[in-house]
Amino acid sequence: MLFNRYLKIVILFLWLIVPAYLQTIWQSQTNVSEAGLEYSAFDNQTLLFQYSAKSLILCTAQCFAIANCRTFDFNAQTRRCRLFEGDLSTSGSIIASASTQSRVGSIQVSPAQFAALGAPCSSCQGNRYLVCIEATCQCLPHTYFDGSVCKSQKLLGAKCNMSYACRTDLNYTCLPRKQCGRKCVTRTDEFFKEFYFVAASLQLGTTVGGRSNGAPGNSLDALKTPAGLFIDPYGFIYVSDLANNRVIRLREGSLNGTIVAGDGTADATNARLYQPAGIYLDSAMNMYISDSKNYRVMLWKQNASTGIRVAGTGISGSLLSQLNNSGAIILDSVGNMYISDTTNHRVLKWALNASSGTIVAGTGVAGPNSNQLNTPYGIYLDETNSYLYIADTLNHRIQRYRLGNPNNGTTVAGGNGGGTGNNQFNAPVGIYLSNKTGALYVADHLNSRIQRWDTAATNGVTVSGITNVAGANASLLNLPYSVILNVNETFLYVTDFNNNRVQRFTLI
Ligand SMILES: *[C@@H]1O[C@H](CO)[C@@H](O)[C@H](O)[C@H]1NC(C)=O
Ligand SMILES: *[C@@H]1O[C@H](CO)[C@@H](O)[C@H](O)[C@H]1NC(C)=O
Ligand SMILES: *[C@@H]1O[C@H](CO)[C@@H](O)[C@H](O)[C@H]1NC(C)=O
Ligand SMILES: *[C@@H]1O[C@H](CO)[C@@H](O)[C@H](O)[C@H]1NC(C)=O
Ligand SMILES: *[C@@H]1O[C@H](CO)[C@@H](O)[C@H](O)[C@H]1NC(C)=O
Ligand SMILES: *[C@@H]1O[C@H](CO)[C@@H](O)[C@H](O)[C@H]1NC(C)=O
Ligand SMILES: *[C@@H]1O[C@H](CO)[C@@H](O)[C@H](O)[C@H]1NC(C)=O
Ligand SMILES: *[C@@H]1O[C@H](CO)[C@@H](O)[C@H](O)[C@H]1NC(C)=O
Ligand SMILES: *[C@@H]1O[C@H](CO)[C@@H](O)[C@H](O)[C@H]1NC(C)=O
Ligand SMILES: *[C@@H]1O[C@H](CO)[C@@H](O)[C@H](O)[C@H]1NC(C)=O
Ligand SMILES: *[C@@H]1O[C@H](CO)[C@@H](O)[C@H](O)[C@H]1NC(C)=O
Ligand SMILES: *[C@@H]1O[C@H](CO)[C@@H](O)[C@H](O)[C@H]1NC(C)=O
Repeated sequence: MLFNRYLKIVILFLWLIVPAYLQTIWQSQTNVSEAGLEYSAFDNQTLLFQYSAKSLILCTAQCFAIANCRTFDFNAQTRRCRLFEGDLSTSGSIIASASTQSRVGSIQVSPAQFAALGAPCSSCQGNRYLVCIEATCQCLPHTYFDGSVCKSQKLLGAKCNMSYACRTDLNYTCLPRKQCGRKCVTRTDEFFKEFYFVAASLQLGTTVGGRSNGAPGNSLDALKTPAGLFIDPYGFIYVSDLANNRVIRLREGSLNGTIVAGDGTADATNARLYQPAGIYLDSAMNMYISDSKNYRVMLWKQNASTGIRVAGTGISGSLLSQLNNSGAIILDSVGNMYISDTTNHRVLKWALNASSGTIVAGTGVAGPNSNQLNTPYGIYLDETNSYLYIADTLNHRIQRYRLGNPNNGTTVAGGNGGGTGNNQFNAPVGIYLSNKTGALYVADHLNSRIQRWDTAATNGVTVSGITNVAGANASLLNLPYSVILNVNETFLYVTDFNNNRVQRFTLI
């Protein structure tokens, strides 16, 4: 508990006190964290003011003096006092500070302070949290009424459940997928303006790996049929560069990558790879690579110059110890590996250090029944709900399995045969589930598009690419393979397999 030893600071606005007002509305409280912590805003736009304060109390008082200030931090060593709008719970997080004398404070507001909302302006005269607009008491700019108090409006990408929860002054609204994003205004004719939400497809992709014109190569600024994709918490992009038999790490802003596994030559020694497909990094930055044509999964520990075989025997086969063209790989929080064993039509789970796997989905025989798979590639583990999602590629559907029940998959997207319809896929390969909205993003490989299926939807929406139009300009994709969102879900990344590049799209 960060606030276990909280200090409670109560500031009474003495100059406002007349007996009738000696009530909670004139009183605000703040909670101050223990020392050694500072505030990290999700978005720097919420920083209102930064100055040098003499003490924590003065920094706190300064926050009270600005009605929009809801969070602040003060470093007693450097005396830096930073004031932010944005409620602590939704607009940022408390992180460890390099200074042992830094603390975070948050203003506590209570419903009583907003009781006059909607009433004639005489009821909120002098109330610092309400303002008179059109003769009634309203929330201050940059705040909205959530049913109990006026809260700070949220910025791009934040979770929301009503349009006013988002910064209306910046034209953000609560998008249908319950995330703050831009509102577009389209004039459909002279007299009527219609508001609607544009999907990210209307945006152009930015190349963040490989060459934007799609040309393949094996230099450090080129890729050749990139397949797997992973983004670490620091924003580094890891790409399994399949036909170059290597894994490349890229930093946004530079198209020049670094080789982090393999050296370009295909063979089965521990320092080399042969058509690496899926890739996954654990929290210790150990890299797991599905080394597809070596029929094994390799673990490259952080900075290692060679890998260790952790699944598969190196010989293709269908025993539980073997793999045949492994696709995606993902680890759970205790180190179990889930591997899509593509041409064995099954998904295997390998416990830590196990020498063979157990079947978690599929029978090993290709088929369309609910207990079967046909050439599964992408997988996504929703550990919280014990679900495993599988891109059942040649069945043109996404199956969801409850962990522990390998005999019963439920189709949650597609399943209407291969095709270009919005209720169909044509060989879905990569999948990713939004942690904020539950929406499923699917790299619809042969349709050269990325589809988003909201929870329980019966149709998908194209969010990048144009259905069944393969090409290399900024609006198009050519056989997308993997899809992934960054942690704050503002960007969608795609390995654009046949364009030999990694594209980034703004999601909102
Ligand atoms: C301060 O935080 C603590 C722990 O989260 C909480 O129990 C307490 O109610 C908070 N104080 C105020 C004034 O909200
Ligand atoms: C989300 O993360 C990206 C980098 O991955 C960063 O550029 C962006 O500012 C972040 N956006 C928000 C709203 O936190
Ligand atoms: C926010 O501001 C801090 C301090 O000025 C800076 O270190 C950080 O990189 C900024 N973050 C973003 C996402 O711009
Ligand atoms: C939005 O969510 C808040 C709590 O997160 C809840 O109190 C409120 O009723 C919700 N509003 C709507 C319109 O669903
Ligand atoms: C918001 O939208 C209006 C109408 O389209 C436009 O005039 C204004 O510049 C936009 N504001 C911002 C901050 O984008
Ligand atoms: C990549 O690095 C090479 C030298 O290492 C340099 O010549 C080239 O301009 C760089 N390319 C990009 C896109 O940064
Ligand atoms: C890996 O290398 C980075 C920088 O090159 C270094 O900071 C880090 O400590 C190294 N990690 C291990 C486990 O050697
Ligand atoms: C592995 O899969 C391929 C199809 O890609 C198949 O032709 C081959 O027989 C399989 N090998 C074994 C040993 O099962
Ligand atoms: C797994 O094997 C590694 C060595 O490969 C060893 O360091 C580790 O302790 C083992 N873990 C368990 C749980 O057996
Ligand atoms: C399979 O799952 C469906 C829906 O999740 C459920 O209705 C059905 O009873 C399950 N069947 C078996 C055999 O587990
Ligand atoms: C999703 O969010 C929850 C809560 O923030 C977190 O515990 C969980 O690890 C996240 N899952 C993924 C896959 O990011
Ligand atoms: C890319 O090509 C498609 C199909 O010809 C076209 O509709 C789209 O406008 C083009 N996009 C760009 C940015 O040129």
